[in-house]
Amino acid sequence: MRLLFATSEAAPLIKTGGLGDVSAALPAALHGMGVDVRILLPGYPQVLKALPFLQPAADFPLLPGFPPARLLSGAMPDGVPLWVIDCPELYRRGGGPYQDEHGQDWLDNAHRFGLLSKIAAVLGSADSPLDWKPDVLHCSDWQTGLAPAYLHFAPDAAPCVMTIHNLAFQGIFPLHTALELGLPGECLQPEGVEYYGNLSFLKAGLHYASHITTVSPFYAEEIQTDALGFNMQGLLAHRRGVLSGILNGIDTTEWNPAADPNLVQTYDAANIKGKSANKRELQRYMGLYADPDVPLLGLVSRFTYQKGLDLVLEIAPQLVEMPAQLVLLGSGEAGMQSKVLELSHRYSGQVGAYVGFDERLSHMIEAGADIFLMPSRFEPCGLNQMYSQRYGTPPVVHATGGLIDTVVDCNAVTLKRGEATGFVFDSADAPGLLGAVRRAVAAYRNKKTWRALQRNGMAKDFGWSRSAVAYRDIYSRLVR
Ligand code: ADP
Ligand code: GLC
Repeated sequence: MRLLFATSEAAPLIKTGGLGDVSAALPAALHGMGVDVRILLPGYPQVLKALPFLQPAADFPLLPGFPPARLLSGAMPDGVPLWVIDCPELYRRGGGPYQDEHGQDWLDNAHRFGLLSKIAAVLGSADSPLDWKPDVLHCSDWQTGLAPAYLHFAPDAAPCVMTIHNLAFQGIFPLHTALELGLPGECLQPEGVEYYGNLSFLKAGLHYASHITTVSPFYAEEIQTDALGFNMQGLLAHRRGVLSGILNGIDTTEWNPAADPNLVQTYDAANIKGKSANKRELQRYMGLYADPDVPLLGLVSRFTYQKGLDLVLEIAPQLVEMPAQLVLLGSGEAGMQSKVLELSHRYSGQVGAYVGFDERLSHMIEAGADIFLMPSRFEPCGLNQMYSQRYGTPPVVHATGGLIDTVVDCNAVTLKRGEATGFVFDSADAPGLLGAVRRAVAAYRNKKTWRALQRNGMAKDFGWSRSAVAYRDIYSRLVR
């Protein structure tokens, strides 16, 4: 099985969220199962800097609508083969993959990710300049959404899988952009790439893909409803016969409390006492009062409406009152960032915050916090709640998407069955969250209950093996 895995992020080279984690860990798991997988990634400066020895593999001087580009070949740090698209005009600049330093979307994003889609499609068709031809193309999110559309009009095209990591991001541009990007006029219609009068990269992918997946079984249902379908529910319900929800795994090597180099002390379920040194260190590092007994709540998140950070800010005074401590790590909307910093100044010693992206601190929080907060309004899968269970830090989560699929609410029955791993609340508002936090803190005060919760979470298998097999089965079916 030869698989081309096209993505706009892959950790540790470039990552803004869970897509980066998944786009590294899933190909690695498939590679380990014998799938001949190659990752295709744009040549952002971060990628070219981290991989100075890439070799030229092919030239694309004349793709209609795009500046000249070159394909470079190399490998991910974990050894998975990698192709990088070098196109200085589109990719070599500061800022992030989607936005500039000031948080503004790049004005040429349609071309940046049109090129990624286009080259993925060329490599998946008879037009490819390479000898290696994929049996299947796997695309992720809107940034690769045009690939299935290009493939539809290409000779001898490979079948393709389109994975939705987050339906809220759809890659919307003026409709005529599709022509600039070299798509034929016949696809500018609802039975094509058109979406409410515009071009939508994601819609294109969902319409033309051979198979659609999303990152948890529950989210696969939710996106067919008016509440969480972001106006794609009709199309998705129509295509439900080829839609699968496959739960993300996590990288259990990278996220392993027994061998995590970011921790002051490693620990495991048999030696959970080692966790307390990490709490002490987190309190010190974030300028909180040293107190082994106060419940310490942690959060690592993009600061957006999706993640429900505003609910945490709303209940912060009650949390401080309890008393509990709070550590927040994240970045995103400017208004939320300043509110977080304000809060940490108002309650210094009890609330600590870092605005920015800090991989090491995210590990320190998973290990050092007692309770992890994830009050997302919607969550296609979510990774942090799995990391936190593995680190013996029971999560408090809203009942949505992948959070439902991965966290078992703590009650008398689930405790008795040895299944409880966290706290789930139904309504995404401040009272809902506060109620769940109060339940968590009460459980935290009961040593026996707390140890049981920690043990249950730490024993769960969140690795990729099962889900990687599910993806491979889909690829095999498409090839047959
Ligand atoms: P999403 O992809 O919607 O942001 P996920 O839970 O799937 O949510 O994945 C988020 C990933 O990004 C996790 O690995 C998380 O630890 C990481 N992350 C998010 N914000 C930060 C940050 N400020 N610093 C470090 N890591 C972060
Ligand atoms: C998206 C989703 C998140 C998911 C991640 C990886 O960013 O918001 O829930 O875990 O993709 O699939």
